[in-house]
Amino acid sequence: MNLVLIGFMAAGKTSVGKRLARRLGYRFLDTDEVIETETGCAISEIFAHQGEPYFRELETRLLRNLGQLQNHVLATGGGIITTPGNMELLKAIGTVVFLNAEPEDILKRLRRDTRRPKVQGGDLEEKVHGLLGQRMTLYQEADVVVSTAGRSVNQTAGEVLRRVIAFRHDAAQARNA
Ligand code: S3P
Repeated sequence: MNLVLIGFMAAGKTSVGKRLARRLGYRFLDTDEVIETETGCAISEIFAHQGEPYFRELETRLLRNLGQLQNHVLATGGGIITTPGNMELLKAIGTVVFLNAEPEDILKRLRRDTRRPKVQGGDLEEKVHGLLGQRMTLYQEADVVVSTAGRSVNQTAGEVLRRVIAFRHDAAQARNA
């Protein structure tokens, strides 16, 4: 059994994912980190030298290789759901949870960011709202949606667990009906 976290940049996927992993006794894995380790390059370098489409190929290739994963919390890059077919791959890996953060919280955290290529240069607010607009319906295809608004990392992790248990219970009942 695995949990997969999706959501916008700076939504808290890494901090909530690590907390979940600790509470469940699972291992934590982050797609960006795996790609950086495997290529030996920072994500920003991959974007700059090979371009975003190549990075998206690396993401999909990685998801295809994670079919055997067991007892992991997998955090994913914010744009992973933009590649057609990736949501199906993610759902085959585990229960997919969308961490839905408020745009104001995202903006606050991204103002100091210097490493995420999608939000460097230009008007940050415009970029964030534009990308959120493009992606929101894709994120909503997750199995479970959890709002992070007004919740600490620990509270968000607790809510994720409650919602995932309920989702799995409902799914099991539907299968037995
Ligand atoms: C991206 C999000 C990043 C990383 C890359 C592209 C995006 O991951 O994959 O910079 O398109 O939203 P985080 O969501 O962990 O910041």
